Amino acid sequence: MEHFQIAIDGPSGSGKSTLARSVARTLGILYLDTGAMYRACGLKALDLGIDPKDEPRISSMLENLRLDILFEQGSQRVILDGEDVTERIRMPGVSVAASDISSLRPVRERMVQMQRQIAGKRNVVLDGRDIGSYVLPSAPFKFFLTADPEERAKRRLEEMAVRGVIDLTFEAVLADLKYRDHQDSTRSFAPLVRTPDAIVIDTTSNTPEETLAQLLSYLPEEVRSGSGSGDAS
Ligand code: DC
Repeated sequence: MEHFQIAIDGPSGSGKSTLARSVARTLGILYLDTGAMYRACGLKALDLGIDPKDEPRISSMLENLRLDILFEQGSQRVILDGEDVTERIRMPGVSVAASDISSLRPVRERMVQMQRQIAGKRNVVLDGRDIGSYVLPSAPFKFFLTADPEERAKRRLEEMAVRGVIDLTFEAVLADLKYRDHQDSTRSFAPLVRTPDAIVIDTTSNTPEETLAQLLSYLPEEVRSGSGSGDAS
């Protein structure tokens, strides 16, 4: 196998990024978090006071948007117009803006082009909503993660607490998640969808280690042992 891609899709909080990060570490390959790219677009709209659903204004915003994804020792930095926004894109409010802006076709076309460029050159694991269905439809390994909404909201709340955000309620996080689930899976262009060739993993009662073991068990030995040309840089 010359280069291979692992696609991990699923709704918010299903455990995609935790899983993708540990898959990348285990196999010594690159991890591309595609949600971070939509978050950067959403953040720029918020910073400029533009409604992330206003397609004409967002289209002209895109003309002046410079997005660079850097990979440093296996971790991804997001550089927006020269500013490192890796931490800011995780703040509350950015999630919904990212979901809103990601439903616009010009935004998706620009991001998908970058994603394909990054994924074309090396072994890589990508997580998102449309990786297996649209970005890399011929990826040899596709997974679709699910988990109960309450469990996903609990995880998001814990993740935000680790980042120092403690003024969120469970109900607010759950509502935000349901809004994004609905919007991400009903938008007309490249929605969140499970393709028939994706392996479904329900992570509701799994530890991250169990989910990782489950995914690895579906990969052939040549991929697991890293005999394909690993490239984490
Ligand atoms: O994975 P995340 O929560 O960081 O993603 C933020 C939003 O970006 C999500 O609500 C939908 C959008 N997104 C998308 O439309 N397609 C992707 N491949 C990844 C994210």
